[in-house]
Amino acid sequence: MKTLVTNCSQLVTLAGPPAPRTGAAMRDLAVIADGAMLIEDGRIIQIGTRGQVETRARRETLIAAADSVIDARRRVVLPGFVDAHTHPVFAGNRSAEFEQRSEGATYAQIAAAGGGIRSTVRATRAATEDQLLDAARRYIGWFHAGGTTTIEAKSGYGLTLQDELKMLRVIGRLEEIRTVATFLGAHEIPDEFRGQPSAYTDLVIGEMLPGVANQQIASFCDVFCEPGIFSIEESRRILSAAAALGLGLRVHADQLSDSGGAALAAELGAATADHLEYTSARGILALHSAGVQPVLLPGSVYALGSTRYPHAREMIQSGLAVVLATDFNPGSSPTPSMPMILSLACTQMKMTPAEAITAATINAAYSLERGREIGSLEVGKQADFVIHDFADYREIPYFFGVPSAHAVYLAGRLVWTRLKPGN
Ligand code: NIG
Ligand code: FE
Repeated sequence: MKTLVTNCSQLVTLAGPPAPRTGAAMRDLAVIADGAMLIEDGRIIQIGTRGQVETRARRETLIAAADSVIDARRRVVLPGFVDAHTHPVFAGNRSAEFEQRSEGATYAQIAAAGGGIRSTVRATRAATEDQLLDAARRYIGWFHAGGTTTIEAKSGYGLTLQDELKMLRVIGRLEEIRTVATFLGAHEIPDEFRGQPSAYTDLVIGEMLPGVANQQIASFCDVFCEPGIFSIEESRRILSAAAALGLGLRVHADQLSDSGGAALAAELGAATADHLEYTSARGILALHSAGVQPVLLPGSVYALGSTRYPHAREMIQSGLAVVLATDFNPGSSPTPSMPMILSLACTQMKMTPAEAITAATINAAYSLERGREIGSLEVGKQADFVIHDFADYREIPYFFGVPSAHAVYLAGRLVWTRLKPGN
């Protein structure tokens, strides 16, 4: 069956060469004014102006069949956002810690006192797989409401092989959103290994990584590389072992200090280095030489009440294929909203709306090795698209804190809609 999507005020295609976008190319969204596209079997088969596409649709008598026409009613249509860094599987939440932070406690102090990631680990270990799935499904609705159709989803609140696998199975069971799973067994030192980071590192390498690789249940491995959590040396050991097992690499790097995380990601040829709030100019250079994509997470800077945002302009100037993501998690970044992230990128990091959208779609897709399937609206690609409740793409970061998505489609199928009477 074919479907016509038409009457788009702007069809933001992001069509271009099959590679992540850098420099000035990040500002070129290949927008078609008054655009339309044809979809067959979940893929795009034609895209162009309304005149061009409707001529064919009329010839194939599609327009007469109302159930095969999606009328965007002069709204802007974009590829679904690709959120390349999320932690969406967890039990409970940390709103009590949020309150403590509002009263002056810091994220690091709360973590040192046994809260933070370890408190979510305790709750997640105690939860069943089905309980975690129910919670995650609720968050998927929130991702959709912001216009997201693909998430990279990390484990990391289990910290035993069994609990990490439980989380990865939940990620595998999520429907109506595309997922790319990342094993993050090295997210924190669990309670039973306090003061023994190298013994826990041995467990991650000796038991957890082989167990995860064996089940082919994750595509990437990530490590929270930070002094006091996993040192550069421990991170190197874990990531090298993961690479040897065929996993791609992502690294939480230089989030709270300039500890050489970016340089390590470059040394190991990681797909991405994420956070980078404290990365030096040398670190940026190393990422560029090694072709590592930076994943910037301004939601975590904002929610921790910091003002130290990563240097996005310097990174774009240096030719890095910048990615933006939410870092959705119960501690440092409790938002699944890509529109909120785009707003922060424009206001706090001085990215243009077009650069931010490139970073949240096509560049993010390449960072997940999915750039040829998703991230832009082009013939042959998956019809993952979102009708936003605006006429111009610049309104998405401009109107912050308001609902953005109107309807969300995955492979041409409606998976989420903002129901309004008379719409
Ligand atoms: O990306 N930095 C480490 N991990 C997360 C925080 C997770 C949590 O606080 O639960 C992050 O910010
Ligand atoms: Fe994270």
